[in-house]
Amino acid sequence: MNQVDYLRISLIDRCNFRCQYCMPQGADLEYILKQNILTDEELLALIQEVFIPLGFTKFRLTGGEPLLRPRVVDLVRAIASFPQTQDLSMTTNGFLLASMAQDLYNAGLRRINISLDSLNPDTFDHIIGNSRGRSRWLDVWNGIQTAARVGFDPLKLNVVVIPGVNDGEVLDLAALTIDQQWHVRFIEFMPIGNAQLFGDRGWISSAELRQRIREHWGLTEAQVRGNGPADVFQIPGAKGTLGFISQMSECFCDRCNRIRLSADGWLRPCLLNETGQIDLKTALRTGIQTTEIQKQVRELLAIKPEINFKQRFSGTKTGVYTRTMSQIGG
Ligand code: GTP
Ligand code: 5AD
Ligand code: SF4
Repeated sequence: MNQVDYLRISLIDRCNFRCQYCMPQGADLEYILKQNILTDEELLALIQEVFIPLGFTKFRLTGGEPLLRPRVVDLVRAIASFPQTQDLSMTTNGFLLASMAQDLYNAGLRRINISLDSLNPDTFDHIIGNSRGRSRWLDVWNGIQTAARVGFDPLKLNVVVIPGVNDGEVLDLAALTIDQQWHVRFIEFMPIGNAQLFGDRGWISSAELRQRIREHWGLTEAQVRGNGPADVFQIPGAKGTLGFISQMSECFCDRCNRIRLSADGWLRPCLLNETGQIDLKTALRTGIQTTEIQKQVRELLAIKPEINFKQRFSGTKTGVYTRTMSQIGG
């Protein structure tokens, strides 16, 4: 069994996009009340006094959109400055990145994953729910270019593939890896967030996408395996890589190395399963000693393997997932 040493921290459940597959326009989302969001001090105390002593060395900041968190650069600096932090990364939609990338890098962030579901501004705006005003595609593209220039490495671009919406762009998106050392990852659409869209559109398997790419350029299995769930391939001769995250067609729970902390302090052992989650915010605020909280987290880690294996999608009604990715922290 993998060592679980990777904590994904949702900094905020709000987002400035309304991606159709995550938190579509008009969806009735209940936001976390401000007073229930872990403060910077609480979050840093949990990292330093609970997670680091338990052997956590990798931290990823997620959302909602993490760049909407006030003082996010200071938070990055504080987490990066812990000597035990070996890897600090962020998953963002990239909209605010152009103006923040340099500050984030200077504060110690080194890895960044950015969502880019389309190269076509109209399709992009349709997916992110931007029906009014000017297109947001160029802001994100500038964010990606700036992040590359500033030196983020690896730079990963996430594509959720929705049949009939952006699957026609798979070759164009894959081609981004030929001349740039970028890592484009195709993610199988999961029934979290928008059950209706999932029901209408379904999902495309990574195997099928690989076949399309293989027919066009050929495809080799890369030597590297990342931290995460992606299977990594390469177009022969390309500078970057192609990752496939296949949570629908494959079970990668046996190599799961991560747990998730929501913005309101719930520690969740598995993306797809609410069983066993513990409320660290209430524990902190009621004055429970951090050594006692550590003990609760250790117990949760001990039962994680059983929880992992119960999470498969098969036979699951989509409504079971009571939180969207923006609330869990993708
Ligand atoms: P690194 O490998 O550290 O770069 O991270 P990552 O690929 O896990 O991070 P990212 O936030 O970019 O995640 C991309 C997507 O992978 C998520 O949006 C999910 O769709 C999927 N994913 C990540 N972790 C898990 C997990 O634990 N279980 C499942 N089923 N899917 C996951
Ligand atoms: N299926 C697959 N991936 C999703 N994400 C959000 N909702 C879904 C879903 N229903 C992903 C986004 C982004 C991350 C934050 O979560 O693409 O990479
Ligand atoms: Fe889109 Fe990410 Fe925002 Fe969800 S949290 S709406 S996936 S940008």
